[in-house]
Amino acid sequence: MTYQGVLSKYGGLLDLPPHTSASAVSLLEGNTPLIRADNLARRLGGGFELFIKYEGLNPTGSFKDRGMTAAVSEALGRSALSVICASTGNTAASAAAYAARAGMKSVVLIPQGKVAAGKLAGAAAYGAKVIQIEGSFDDALTMVIEISNKHPICLVNSINPYRIEGQKTAAFEICDVLESAPDWLCLPVGNAGNITAYWAGFKQYDKLKSTGLPQILGVQAAGAAPLVLGHTVENPETVATAIRIGRPARAEQALQAAQESNGRIIAVTDQEILNMQKMLAELEGIWVEPASAAGLAGLALEIAAMAFNPRGKRIVAVCTGHGLKDPEAITDRMSAPWVVPPKLAALEEIILG
Ligand code: F0G
Repeated sequence: MTYQGVLSKYGGLLDLPPHTSASAVSLLEGNTPLIRADNLARRLGGGFELFIKYEGLNPTGSFKDRGMTAAVSEALGRSALSVICASTGNTAASAAAYAARAGMKSVVLIPQGKVAAGKLAGAAAYGAKVIQIEGSFDDALTMVIEISNKHPICLVNSINPYRIEGQKTAAFEICDVLESAPDWLCLPVGNAGNITAYWAGFKQYDKLKSTGLPQILGVQAAGAAPLVLGHTVENPETVATAIRIGRPARAEQALQAAQESNGRIIAVTDQEILNMQKMLAELEGIWVEPASAAGLAGLALEIAAMAFNPRGKRIVAVCTGHGLKDPEAITDRMSAPWVVPPKLAALEEIILG
């Protein structure tokens, strides 16, 4: 049978109300590739298997689509007319796309001036009402919670339990491809919905199919690392704007996932994130947005610090969003391209000379 999206493939394993499946709103999200990254593994010292779960290949360019198909299908199933979310950009684009397909209105609140170009453009293209808040993501989240409590607008942030249900499917896919859970799973952590979803998914699959459990390495940006610091961060700042979050909604569940899995949550600097973004693109041909390189940057740090020995291990790094989401992360830092007159001699001089 042709692939029809994560609800169709794994709906039976998701805790969704019965009205959800009848109204499935899908863009055939999920089924993303698990790509072996031998060049990068070698660069990090070798002796282990490394796979990239390339979530940037979802329909709107990020993993959010897995949860959004569930949340919007549920909302449509009870005839909701509109959805709302706070977002650093990817949730906004995803909510807007699925709402458009469902014939619903979408409203997205974003922190002013802190959303990457490809995400803002996406939200606008899909027809969302885009509202910039003179504040942080955390301020925006507080506001959408308040307004959705007061008015019949469906909240589709990852506080919505159906988002988590949908995002569990990434863990199922990894286990299906590897025929077991990996030894380690590394991923970036912002509002902490995704780490919560992965851990729930792995636990469920292990009960069902004895696939085993990974140790989870959650990685925050150093300027936005409340889970590492042990307290909220009032003014989070990082080049990885997707995870520029100081008060994660699912902080406790994230810490629990790290603890129960015998893993940990660590922080990496912006420079480490950008270095890894470049390394992944140049060694493997996989270009991800800065936040999406954080998991791998954390892995590199752990290996370099000999915090754990990767030898013989199978490691999956989740790359959550496509590089095209944030072109300026590259173009702002690159040296200007060569300019030559349209003459063969000039071209030869640059290429051969
Ligand atoms: N990576 C990317 C590319 C993201 O967009 C996000 C979150 C994360 C990682 C972290 O996931 O929040 O579940 O811990 N982006 C949200 C948004 C906050 O609004 O798009 P998380």
